[in-house]
Amino acid sequence: MKKFLDLGIQPLANSYLKRKDLHKKEKKFNLSAGFDKKNYLVSILRTIPKEKMFNKDYPYKSSESKTMRMAFKTLAKKIKKRFDPKLVVEIGSNDGAFLFNFDKKKAVGVEPCKNLAKKTKKKKFKTFSEYWDINLSNKISKIGKADVIYSANTLSHIENLENVFKAINILLSENGVLIIEDPSLLKCLKNNAYDQFYCEHIYIFSTIALNKILSKHGLILFDIENLNTHGGSNRYYIKRKNSELNKIKYSVKKEIYKETKYGLKKLETYEKFAKRVRSSRKKLLNIFKKIKSKNKKIIGYGATAKSCTVLNYCKIDKSYIDFFYDTTSYKINKFLPGSKILVNKYKKLDAKTDDYVFLGAWNFKHEIFNKEKKFIKNGGKFITHVPFPKVI
Ligand code: TMP
Repeated sequence: MKKFLDLGIQPLANSYLKRKDLHKKEKKFNLSAGFDKKNYLVSILRTIPKEKMFNKDYPYKSSESKTMRMAFKTLAKKIKKRFDPKLVVEIGSNDGAFLFNFDKKKAVGVEPCKNLAKKTKKKKFKTFSEYWDINLSNKISKIGKADVIYSANTLSHIENLENVFKAINILLSENGVLIIEDPSLLKCLKNNAYDQFYCEHIYIFSTIALNKILSKHGLILFDIENLNTHGGSNRYYIKRKNSELNKIKYSVKKEIYKETKYGLKKLETYEKFAKRVRSSRKKLLNIFKKIKSKNKKIIGYGATAKSCTVLNYCKIDKSYIDFFYDTTSYKINKFLPGSKILVNKYKKLDAKTDDYVFLGAWNFKHEIFNKEKKFIKNGGKFITHVPFPKVI
């Protein structure tokens, strides 16, 4: 494993602080990323125990995002039409945004965060509030084999990938389909989106790396879709090697070609990325300093886990950003980890009071710009760091 990026000392990205805990020492760790030349796998080098990140206080709820709700609805429709599954199992079912699109007799959730599992249990969906592993897979197999196993933004959060895929192999029916959705490494590098790295994102998958792991477990990719969600993701369709169903589509060859051409098999590509990241930090800080020297007010929009990486890496704190707006109820009136910037309940932006707005949720740029048309029309400005720091 060769280290290529050092994002400094960081707190746990989703550990928002209550006011009464502001004086307490936060748990911090060194956030660095490395490249494994043998498996082409990119991962963070120090990991945090899962119980510290995924527990009853997990703040992220898929249902609170309209974009995610709509994406899950469309996908569920497609899955029913294309694969007609008798049993769907979702690994990382969160608060049910995907699961609720299925008949409760045909869908099972796996969600270790008890506050979220409660939501699907309440609607009578069978939910296992446990971490995904071989033991759990054996337990679920007793209900029946899964014709579709779906997992969005979850497998990249689990350290032991061997165990993950062995467990999937136990549960997947003979002609079953595994659908994985995770941020794309190619998109991350192209966008200089170094904030895809935080404690929960142990891996940022490329198709090339995923292909290597899958082949070890007798699995094969047969289709890939490029998505806009989470700043650029891939949806991977996978089957057993010996399954006759589902022909391998050209999209697989195309994605592997794109990634190889960009250089995802070479360490040098990652070192160049790290250089761009260091330059991005310098440029972003200069933008903030210049604005503050004119005594202008900056606020943040979307107190994301991603912005935690940016703020702590660039050392941007409340002397630069007065507060963040966010719509997530759990985050409101709490403080962002590390930078300790307050999160306020979202209010429509007003160019009379807000001069500049740092786009923490840059992955929802279009949704946000649409919502804040009046602010933009009245001369309000946004600051973003993706794909490079600039004022819009
Ligand atoms: P995510 O990037 O991890 O999906 O988180 C998005 C965060 O941004 C979430 O806390 C909600 C917040 N957000 C807003 O506050 N307003 C918005 O209009 C959008 C799209 C997101």
